[in-house]
Amino acid sequence: MASYYPEELINEIIMANDLVDVIAGYVQLKKAGRSYKGLCPFHNEKTPSFTVSQEKQLYHCFGCGEGGSVIQFIEKIENLDFVETIQFLAQRAGIQLPEGNEKADDSAFYAKKKKMLEMYRHTARFYVDILYGEAGKPGRDYLVQRGLDVKTAKHFGLGYAPDKFDECVRFLKGKGYDEALIEEAGLARQGKNGKYYDFFRGRLMVPIIDIRGNVIAFGGRILDDGQPKYLNSPDTPIFNKNKTLFAFNFAKRYCSEQIIVAEGYMDVIALHRAGFQNAVATLGTAITSNHVGMLARYTKEVVLCYDSDDAGRKATERALELLQRVNIRTKVLHVTDAKDPDEFIKKKGAQGFARLLGKSENSMMYQVGELKKQYDLGNLEEKIEFLNELAKLFAKVSNPIEREILVREAAAESGVSEDAIFAQIRENQYNIEKNRNNEIERAKNRQLVQNRVQHKDIQTELYEGMLANLICTDKQVYLAMRERAETDFFKTPAAHNFMQKVYQQWDSGQVPDMPLILGQMEAEQAREISVAASRELPYADNVKAAEDIFQTIEGRRKNAQAAQIGSAEELDKLLKSLKK
Ligand code: UTP
Ligand code: MN
Repeated sequence: MASYYPEELINEIIMANDLVDVIAGYVQLKKAGRSYKGLCPFHNEKTPSFTVSQEKQLYHCFGCGEGGSVIQFIEKIENLDFVETIQFLAQRAGIQLPEGNEKADDSAFYAKKKKMLEMYRHTARFYVDILYGEAGKPGRDYLVQRGLDVKTAKHFGLGYAPDKFDECVRFLKGKGYDEALIEEAGLARQGKNGKYYDFFRGRLMVPIIDIRGNVIAFGGRILDDGQPKYLNSPDTPIFNKNKTLFAFNFAKRYCSEQIIVAEGYMDVIALHRAGFQNAVATLGTAITSNHVGMLARYTKEVVLCYDSDDAGRKATERALELLQRVNIRTKVLHVTDAKDPDEFIKKKGAQGFARLLGKSENSMMYQVGELKKQYDLGNLEEKIEFLNELAKLFAKVSNPIEREILVREAAAESGVSEDAIFAQIRENQYNIEKNRNNEIERAKNRQLVQNRVQHKDIQTELYEGMLANLICTDKQVYLAMRERAETDFFKTPAAHNFMQKVYQQWDSGQVPDMPLILGQMEAEQAREISVAASRELPYADNVKAAEDIFQTIEGRRKNAQAAQIGSAEELDKLLKSLKK
């Protein structure tokens, strides 16, 4: 990627953010020999296979294959693109970034995003000014009607969208934005007559703010009981509802121990006002795996606090399913005597809610309770069916102590022996394990077929990466290999691109900076190199190691035909194993 900021600046930013330091903010790391180890934040695991090398400033997970420099780590874990990552890391290190030095062509996309963010900031201000101005009476009346005080409204930046045809569009045009961009940002629509009109009209406006404090979208509440009740910004280059949580900009500071996930904007506003500033909500969608990933990185415990209706129960069910996959402690809070947390707090106050929170149920207990409701336990057949389902549920519990307690209770309650329940659990665990193994096997075969079809030789790729790494990190190797292993010797795109930069730097008398070079490569290619770089080599002498790897690559190329293309039958067999 051509860079948006000067290379020296990117270099300075990378140097200012020690990888071990950065990662320690997300993963508990333990020193292990010359590197650090911890549980991989990118996949679910129980034994640490995530390693970080301070010396090389690289990380790699042997479990899922993720790897790279501080750039790739932040891109992946914070869901940011390259330029946003640079900004994030600059801010972290207190480095000032120059404004407006983008190069015209490749930064068009970033320039547009920047413009949209600016536009949203103006728009949020516009809605707030309207709310407290002459035209804001309906909005202010609505706040009163809902019992919302001005302090809370200001804290959340609530505003009012006037019930006019195009007042917001005209305001933004006055600020110099063109109509097409206003529409693309989701703030205007184009009518049949070609005229642009306001997307939000006559609504109480709730700004949605990202972690860095930018307004990136709005939710607009209608003031009466018209439809739709809430109108939300569409997804745009700056907003993806599947990755955004309402009020996370506030909650992120209060949620390291526990986070409360509610359904609606008003629930969250009521909760924060009552002192539960660790509350967030999804934005008119069910919780997604992206949300779950975010939660898992920021907190130890999730409390689901959905509405007390059927939809709320279904949403709870689905959220539990996703949360179970990441091994995060989860509880379910039952809102009683009210339809949602907002209404509950109005009736029973903050203390009432604190009591509910204290009584919230372990997610497994909740699921047992829900299951029980579906069966008539007086009927023998239904009771057997119930116990079977129960065993399936318990089979997913990874903590043996928790499992034993659950079984003991279930046995006492149902009058069935603990042994019988355990036997049933084992059978279910066996099936789960078998399915998982089949899935892994199939994934492996898929990869093999792909490699065959693309005539890729994974092993040679790995050797090329290892050689590239040695040339990059050891001047003696560079001197020994410069003439023989030219850039074009490296056939895989990743190693080729990487070596181009490495040689450029060595040749001009600099020491190549691996994290910097990887940081500027495409994530997938950077991963390939960093995987190869993290291989420990059984050599004391790097020049000797490079020599051997070089010979091996040449040897494999001579036998390329044999090495690459397996027999037709073999490929056929693999393909068959994938169907099914
Ligand atoms: P609810 O209907 O429970 O809304 O929808 P609420 O938060 O209790 O709203 P009030 O108290 O009546 O004002 C929960 C959430 O679902 C999304 C919104 O995010 C809302 O907060 N939603 C709901 C929509 O996006 N559009 C709708 O029309 C309704
Ligand atoms: Mn509600």
